Amino acid sequence: MFTIKNHLEKRDSHLTIGGVDTVDLVEKYGTPLYVTNEQRVRDNFRRYSEAFPDADMYYAAKANGNFTIMRILAQEGAGADVFGDGELYMALLAGIPKEKILFNGNSKTDRELEMAVETGVRVSVDSLDELNTLSRIAKSQNRTINIAFRVNPDVSPDTHPKISTGLKTSKFGIPHQEVVEAYKEAVELEGVNPIGMHCHIGSQILDTSPFDEAVNRMMDLVEQVKRLGVELEFLDIGSGLGIPYKKGELAPTPKDLADVVLPIFEKRSKAIGVNLKLIIEPGRYIMGDTTVLLTTVNTMKHAAKKFVGVDAGFNLLIRPAMYDSYHHVVVANKVDAQISSLYTVVGPICETGDILAHDRELPEVEKNDIIAIFDAGAYGFSMSSQYNGRPRCAELLVNDGQVDIIRKAETYDDLLANQLVPTRFL
Ligand code: LLP
Repeated sequence: MFTIKNHLEKRDSHLTIGGVDTVDLVEKYGTPLYVTNEQRVRDNFRRYSEAFPDADMYYAAKANGNFTIMRILAQEGAGADVFGDGELYMALLAGIPKEKILFNGNSKTDRELEMAVETGVRVSVDSLDELNTLSRIAKSQNRTINIAFRVNPDVSPDTHPKISTGLKTSKFGIPHQEVVEAYKEAVELEGVNPIGMHCHIGSQILDTSPFDEAVNRMMDLVEQVKRLGVELEFLDIGSGLGIPYKKGELAPTPKDLADVVLPIFEKRSKAIGVNLKLIIEPGRYIMGDTTVLLTTVNTMKHAAKKFVGVDAGFNLLIRPAMYDSYHHVVVANKVDAQISSLYTVVGPICETGDILAHDRELPEVEKNDIIAIFDAGAYGFSMSSQYNGRPRCAELLVNDGQVDIIRKAETYDDLLANQLVPTRFL
């Protein structure tokens, strides 16, 4: 065994994951195919919780909403950051305790707010308008719901603009200058009990300094809110820790993040005289590197570039098309072969932007080879679609040689599943 990247290894020139040969998996289950290593999910979660021993980890379900993944994380003691009613439904069903679920969202429906009140989870309130709606709904159910406000801290991390969420102009949260007023209003309203404060500055952040800035800003607000006489119970600093997608890319570890965040959090909590539970909402760090997307080479074309046409496209992994994201690729059945030339790996979707990997050094690629796309566990399957009439693929879980199907591949029937044909077209 030889490690290629983290938990990914090779045996007889084949890529293996969780002790299983990817070429065997493809023979048995076909492609495209998502394959997740269970132990890596657990290890990533544990590494994060060990770095923040007193904090609660609310897994960001949007990163990977597979139910078995949620069960694994529930077993590990995770809470959940949910961003919609479907994620809330799944998190509760997976056994995540309602006290450890934060319902986030900048545009929740009244029905979603009702569901939050009925199920007794916490809500991160994104605007004063939402605060009033939530108060009305809670009163009508004779209940009081625990809330936090989502703060827009106006912090600018160095990441792709589409995944930066805490900028002044972002759609998320209440401008930090207006937050204290929001707590004042909440205290006056029935049905809502402000017990927390929340922010999230972005994703795939490879530098810890924006977290320093965000935590300091949040502690300033905690201090001001305390002066109002509001005793907060938690501070949720969201997430955003990046992972190294490129070979040699440096990314801070959870421990590096803790070394920045905890001293500020502890020192300032003491100075202000508050005893807050720290909450973190990791998604990408837990799931990103756990999973490969396996795809078969349908066809080769030597035109302006050497194009490798594979059977997965942005219908299954949209990150390269949407954010110009880099995902490392290897030829899974030839991991020992010598580099031959530069190839561009493209999907089958009818869009010029359907490119999974630009100009990559690969061994000679031929029809029927298997390309493995690394680090596809976060925002991979969860952002997939049926574009171009393509049923979604299966997901497997592997662990120490054991293989389980955790999602069946869709069929043509699934393309038609909810479509109704008026009788005049029959
Ligand atoms: N908490 C909140 C409120 C969030 O909005 C997010 C991600 C997270 C936690 C988890 O952040 P993470 O640990 O994964 O960085 N689709 C994009 C990423 C969008 C992230 C949206 N919010 C991508 O593929 O890069």
